[in-house]
Amino acid sequence: MTEPLEWTPDARELADLELLLSGAYHPLTGFMGPADAHAVAEHGTLADGTPWPAPVTLALPGDHPAAPGDRVTLRDPEGAPLAVLTVTERAQGLAAGPVEALGAPEHGPFARLRRAPADVRKELAGRPVLAVTMRGPLDDLAEIEATAAELDAAVLLLPLAFGESGPAVVRAALRARDRLAETSAAGAAVAVVPLAPREDHAVDLELRERVAEAYGAAEHLAGPEPVVIPGPPHRRGLVVFFTGLSGSGKSTVARGLRDALLERGGRTVTYLDGDVVRHLLSAGLGFSRADRDLNIRRIGFVAAEAARHGGLAICAPIAPFAATRAEVRAMVEAVGADFLLVHVATPLAECERRDRKGLYAKARAGLIPEFTGVSSPYEEPDDADLVIDTTGISVESAVAAVLDPLVAGGWVR
Ligand code: ADX
Repeated sequence: MTEPLEWTPDARELADLELLLSGAYHPLTGFMGPADAHAVAEHGTLADGTPWPAPVTLALPGDHPAAPGDRVTLRDPEGAPLAVLTVTERAQGLAAGPVEALGAPEHGPFARLRRAPADVRKELAGRPVLAVTMRGPLDDLAEIEATAAELDAAVLLLPLAFGESGPAVVRAALRARDRLAETSAAGAAVAVVPLAPREDHAVDLELRERVAEAYGAAEHLAGPEPVVIPGPPHRRGLVVFFTGLSGSGKSTVARGLRDALLERGGRTVTYLDGDVVRHLLSAGLGFSRADRDLNIRRIGFVAAEAARHGGLAICAPIAPFAATRAEVRAMVEAVGADFLLVHVATPLAECERRDRKGLYAKARAGLIPEFTGVSSPYEEPDDADLVIDTTGISVESAVAAVLDPLVAGGWVR
């Protein structure tokens, strides 16, 4: 027997999957292949001419064994099976085909409000529906009330919940529903729709229109764009990520920064030194590219969690690979925190001259394989927010070189 085929789509793809399964993307019933995706992007129709505003695709890496005719179980990141994809086409990194729900348990905030279009249409049957899609709060309900009165329509609020800000927009919809219940006789219904924003505003609006239609809307109003007011920098999460060769002085400067921050007070500090992390969080990992990448992702995960709650995390691994550093930057920015990459650019010759742990000598003697700078690459960052070379400077001045910009940027008071 062959292994059952499985795949865990990313967050945007899972959001699209939910809309395909709920019927909110009617008439779509599955993920598009390249022909449809290109046709949609070029002229707003599927290859057969059916109007549709945006590509809805599932990326599958080239080494995944799924072939046309195969059934692939799609799982959420926690492993729950959500749907089966029957593959009709694999091309250009995409897997296309219809999807069927597996009836996995619903979870996540406001799961009970994620109602399918058919259920909502049934509930509002017989009345024209004014649907309002929301990505942020509705400050002014006058237009909604006037339009609803004019059409004698029921109001359906559709908070488009995706990502970190998802719960906030649902809470905004519930507040608006409560206010409408006080002021208008008919009140309003709420259904949460996991529609990820599309970059092109016109495409985004058209897609919102289509989803509103699936929910039975006779009329659609797009709520105002959210006004994003990021908190002051000293309250925002921050990850200061040091990268550099072994012996470059990363740990020394990172530790000095931690101590200086603790002396000043005002910020909670999480310290994730490379060697310390490898004793517990990454115990058992070696120094192959795959192990190093996993090590850095683990560090990034923990740092992003600290930053999510407004904490300041200091990381100091070698982190030799640019792509992995970029992944961590994206993880941190995805939780609404700031990320500063500090390249400790002490030259290899100086690191080797110091050789505090005697590791360079061993590496040169061939006793340590894949040693960074000797027998394994270090990719110099071209996206560093700060570059320091610790050659011939005191620890205090190296720490000041990092701390001063944090103060100047308002992250530390
Ligand atoms: S990383 O590449 O995954 O970022 P990390 O910072 O965790 O590396 O660990 C680096 C530390 O492990 C070095 O400071 C050194 O003490 C030790 N080490 C042991 N073997 C190696 C190796 N092959 N390459 C680099 N560092 C090594």
